[in-house]
Amino acid sequence: MMFNKLSIKMTFLYGLIIIITIVYLIFILMFKYEDNQFKKNEIEYLSYVNMFSNLLKDDMSNITSLIDKTPEYGKSIDGRILVLNSDGYVISDEYNKIIGEKITNKEMTSSIDNKEESMGYYKMDNEYIMIITAPILQINEVVGVVLISTSVTHIKQDVQSLRNQAAGISVIAIIIAFVLLIFTGKKITKPVSKLTDASQSILKGQLNTKVDITRKDEIGKLALTFNKMSEELYKLDENRRRFITNVSHELKTPLASIKALIESLINSKNDIDTYNEYLTDVNVEIDRLSGLVKSLLAVARLEEEKIKKEPMNLYLEIQRIIRMFEPLTNEKNINIINKCKEDIVIVADKYKFKEVIINLIDNGIKYNRDNGYVEISYREKMWRKMLIVRDSGQGIPKEDINLIFDNFYRVDKSRKNEKGGSGIGLYIVKKIIDLHQWSITVNSQLGKGTEFIIEIG
Ligand SMILES: Nc1ncnc2c1ncn2[C@@H]1O[C@H](COP(=O)(O)OP(=O)(O)OP(=O)(O)O)[C@@H](O)[C@H]1O
Ligand SMILES: [Mg+2]
Repeated sequence: MMFNKLSIKMTFLYGLIIIITIVYLIFILMFKYEDNQFKKNEIEYLSYVNMFSNLLKDDMSNITSLIDKTPEYGKSIDGRILVLNSDGYVISDEYNKIIGEKITNKEMTSSIDNKEESMGYYKMDNEYIMIITAPILQINEVVGVVLISTSVTHIKQDVQSLRNQAAGISVIAIIIAFVLLIFTGKKITKPVSKLTDASQSILKGQLNTKVDITRKDEIGKLALTFNKMSEELYKLDENRRRFITNVSHELKTPLASIKALIESLINSKNDIDTYNEYLTDVNVEIDRLSGLVKSLLAVARLEEEKIKKEPMNLYLEIQRIIRMFEPLTNEKNINIINKCKEDIVIVADKYKFKEVIINLIDNGIKYNRDNGYVEISYREKMWRKMLIVRDSGQGIPKEDINLIFDNFYRVDKSRKNEKGGSGIGLYIVKKIIDLHQWSITVNSQLGKGTEFIIEIG
């Protein structure tokens, strides 16, 4: 459970690497140091033992001189000198204690047998002793052996105390490394847990949750994206909420007027003409309601559907739509002109694209004067492909231009106006344009006309 935490995993992994490195380094260093100290000591005593064997060579036949000289030489070194004859009996001892005794150690035997120096280490009680021997040669004959025994306990102790110090330093280094690791581990993983917490609060419904992480690395980028995402989620939710409020409001008004009209019919005695008049009003409201429901269904469909692009002939599609509008155009005598060249092919979701054109032409007719026109044209400028729907209508006031694509937005807020729709047409248009990743802009002059420019990406 605890090991599931990233910071702890990291700390242990790096900690282990550090420990192994430190221990390995110390081990190698100590080993080398100890070896070096002993080598140095050996070389020193090797030169002593050789020197003495040379110096004493001529005294081998003169025991008194030998016994005199041995302690003298012995004083110059830190150790005890013995001189043995070729049978291994002590003939001279620096301490004058074991003269006449036979010594049989492997160093001595090796020096006699091989005519060369030999050395070995021994442990006596708490002392470490080095024994070093060299043959005394006369005309290539072994006539005796010089033996030096010296304590190496101080070297052992020296190495041991160094080893203790190194161990102490390693422990401190490892502790510092761990503290640093835990610290940096926390620094790396803290933003991760911040992000996790923030994600969880989003999951619980707090959509606009942000994290305050300002870093330039990948985690910083992740935090930035996270904040943007959470903001988008919030906006999306806000839009949905506003949409529902608007829908309820739009449904409430016609329903209320239908109810008022019917109640007044129920509550009083009326002649047939009044009935007719009131019911016509009811009929208008019901038309408005069914128009609204139709638009809402179109919006709902847009939410679900993905777009399915295919090539289509622009001129022909627009011709078909214009034919649909004939009854409407006759009413106001509006002229719809298709100025697109006949061979233009564009790639779009056919069904949705038609919806866009239908809505734009519908507006162009609805908000037009009598005998006006609606003109659809296609233009290519450099690499830009533009479809333009222009009308000779009433135009849109400047302050409304940015709002007409919002859902349920109408310039003329009063529903009295016969031609007024529900204000959802351009909302659908914008959604379809966004789905295609195109763009749409509006230019309008009050009293003169309006043009919608769709830039086909
Ligand atoms: N060509 C135009 N000329 C003048 N005003 C326009 C034009 N197109 C849109 N508008 C204004 O923008 C508003 C929003 O248009 P939109 O098409 O979204 O809604 P609507 O036409 O009122 O209703 P719906 O299209 O849902 O039946 C309109 O109410 C109108 O005031
Ligand atoms: Mg419309």
